Amino acid sequence: MTLAAVPATPIMSDVPARRTAFVELEKVTHAYGRGERQVRALDETSLLIEKGDFVALVGPSGCGKSTILKLVTGLINASSGYVFIAGRQVGAEPVRVGMAFQNPTLLPWLTLRENVMLPLKIVPPFRQEYYAKRKGEFRDRIEALLAQVGLAGFSDKYPWQLSGGMMQRASLCRALIHEPQLLMLDEPFGALDQFTREELWAIMQDLWIAHRPTVLLVTHDLKEAAYLANRICVMQARPGRIIDDRVVPFARPRTIEIVRRQAI
Ligand SMILES: Nc1ncnc2c1ncn2[C@@H]1O[C@H](COP(=O)(O)OP(=O)(O)O)[C@@H](O)[C@H]1O
Ligand SMILES: [Mg+2]
Repeated sequence: MTLAAVPATPIMSDVPARRTAFVELEKVTHAYGRGERQVRALDETSLLIEKGDFVALVGPSGCGKSTILKLVTGLINASSGYVFIAGRQVGAEPVRVGMAFQNPTLLPWLTLRENVMLPLKIVPPFRQEYYAKRKGEFRDRIEALLAQVGLAGFSDKYPWQLSGGMMQRASLCRALIHEPQLLMLDEPFGALDQFTREELWAIMQDLWIAHRPTVLLVTHDLKEAAYLANRICVMQARPGRIIDDRVVPFARPRTIEIVRRQAI
């Protein structure tokens, strides 16, 4: 699904406003619940992500990967520490965010075009433009994006008429249609077969090169991270923390052979 970051955290006036990286986590911790049932999901974590970068979070189930995505989008508040986006505390200003999950979450009663159009109907400033009768222009943009992921000619189909891979391509289009500053991908290729997954890695790389959003990708798959990301942060559970952070040296555009050849 796609959303604009929700202002949730009370904004602290004594927090410095000037930051250098686009996304900054400063000594952030997060615990779910209280008392004996409390789960320390994220130990003290600091992370800097430059604008237009592509960072992968890799690690076992339960190590806090999705928690980091939720903190960066402002869906949950940090228990301690700060999250900054574009130099402001998360929630201080709306940030356009696109999201895609393991499950494509397309609405079954809408066509592909209508599904992809959804963020334009919801997220400012597109919402105003959309209702100011510029639907035709948006329609062209949707067709162009669908063609980019190999779905030209499918815009009048319903999700149930498509394969899992096609639905996931459409959900990537929906995550990108409103030109998000931040693209959050939570294991979007995890439920696909190996062939389809590798096909979508190539599509995702092309989309990133064409649109250059700042991407945070959560995955279990080191090869996927090495194919797609500029940087890989490896996480460990109990409590969740980043134990390794390294740059992926492969030139772009990358091919599947490059990651197959490497002992990653
Ligand atoms: N809403 C929640 N309430 C309680 N515990 C949660 C909640 N969401 C996640 N957790 C716990 O926090 C830890 C980290 O979760 P999560 O960030 O979803 O991990 P990952 O995405 O790496 O699998 C796990 O132990 C998980 O069980
Ligand atoms: Mg998760």
